[in-house]
Amino acid sequence: MPGTVIVGTQWGDEGKGKITDLLARDASAIVRFQGGNNAGHTIVRDGEEFKFHLIPSGILHEDKYCVIGNGVVVDPRVLLEEIDGLKRAGISVSNLRVSSNAHLIMPYHILLDTAGEIKLGKLSIGTTRRGIGPAYADKALRLGVRVQDMLDEKILRKKIMTALEDKQHVLRELSVRRRKLHKEAEIDEEIPIDDRLDLHSITEEYLSYGHRLEPLITDTALLCWNELDAGNKVIFEGAQAALLDLDHGTYPFVTSSNPIAGAACTGAGVGPTDIQEVVGIVKAYTTRVGAGPFPTELFDDVGKHMSAKGHEFGTTTGRPRRCGWLDLVALKYAVRLNGTSSLAMTKLDVLAGLDTLKVAVRYRSREGAVLNEFPYHQSILHNATPEYVDLPGFGDEITHCRSEEDLPPTARDYVTFISDFVGVPIQLIGVGPGREQVVWIDART
Ligand code: GDP
Ligand code: IMO
Ligand code: MG
Repeated sequence: MPGTVIVGTQWGDEGKGKITDLLARDASAIVRFQGGNNAGHTIVRDGEEFKFHLIPSGILHEDKYCVIGNGVVVDPRVLLEEIDGLKRAGISVSNLRVSSNAHLIMPYHILLDTAGEIKLGKLSIGTTRRGIGPAYADKALRLGVRVQDMLDEKILRKKIMTALEDKQHVLRELSVRRRKLHKEAEIDEEIPIDDRLDLHSITEEYLSYGHRLEPLITDTALLCWNELDAGNKVIFEGAQAALLDLDHGTYPFVTSSNPIAGAACTGAGVGPTDIQEVVGIVKAYTTRVGAGPFPTELFDDVGKHMSAKGHEFGTTTGRPRRCGWLDLVALKYAVRLNGTSSLAMTKLDVLAGLDTLKVAVRYRSREGAVLNEFPYHQSILHNATPEYVDLPGFGDEITHCRSEEDLPPTARDYVTFISDFVGVPIQLIGVGPGREQVVWIDART
């Protein structure tokens, strides 16, 4: 049975959570394979909104395994808060599992993330400050602390001690620098350096997390294998998106993991031949949180329309999302990188009421060259100007539509144009945040 990967094709917040919940209906397991609680995935069921940062978006289907794979960086405090929240809402977490090999986000990672952003000042990436980059850095440096380490006091203490050795110095230096910058009124932020860097208190804190999480900790790669081997469908749920990919995104304005489909293999412990389907999620327009290039960004009333009607505020940090037209140069790039079999387009309803819909079909470089492919050179991308095709908009609201025939012809034309341009079918369209607010598209499209 198929392994299906669900990935974001833009800069995140495409609606992966909603589509994962939808496609999970016939799956036996839903697996997160990268990222951490920088993600914010929203599902609206019967009018009730659920937001998940670490827990896979299959959790509302109580009969399925929900797995946090080895490629995820886990802040156990956040995970336990999410578990408690679900229990309070009466939702069972008995099928939740956490990889023993996943790396932990430690208090010093969060401090380093914050300190790093402040240090960069105007050049900052605009990270979520959840400690993601420093946790992955420690993993690569082989200074990481893993989920399984929380189960052995001696090992845990030793690993934290080793990891802390080089950090005390860096943080102290940043603290001094912060004071200096603060004095010069360049920043008004605090680096919260406190007793969270104390070896004893961190060890005690993480031992208690380990104690609570122990029943969930397991070999999740084996679990995935067993499900696939039994012929069951496994969904690998991506966080973030292609343009935030550490290797292929708009570096350095990216996250510190690989959110493209290939990473599902390393991040969950399955082989490439276990993946049969890759579903790319694309918002009907584009948004981005944080800094970095965004060729089709809008600063006019249309951008304001998208922001207001689409409620474009970050699920994790509450920051306003930058908004702009759909960028087909970037989408084609993401479709290629992911080996995408089909797309699901969300938030088409947000475009209702706009007279004209623009889609970027190529860029023009500062020197006037036509760029049909997403530029690999960052300076070119930063100076690229998009060129658009205008498509007719649709005036009527479409939130009630449930079939292709219900959609206004110009809305259908918009979808067909995009599908033809990138060369993959669009299998479903989101027309509202609700679980049921989708239009399935006939396979012929
Ligand atoms: P994710 O990070 O990719 O899972 O996306 P987020 O949950 O951060 O952001 C997507 C937002 O759009 C959420 O508030 C969803 O409830 C909402 N949403 C998802 N699909 C649709 C849709 O088709 N129409 C509208 N209006 N909202 C949607
Ligand atoms: P979901 O899964 C949108 C962005 C941050 C920042 C950059 C690096 O909800 O789509 P990080 O904290 O990862 O080091 O920040 O990546 N970012 C996201 N933007 N959606 C997300 O996740 C994101 N996760 C990280 O805003 O620009
Ligand atoms: Mg999100």
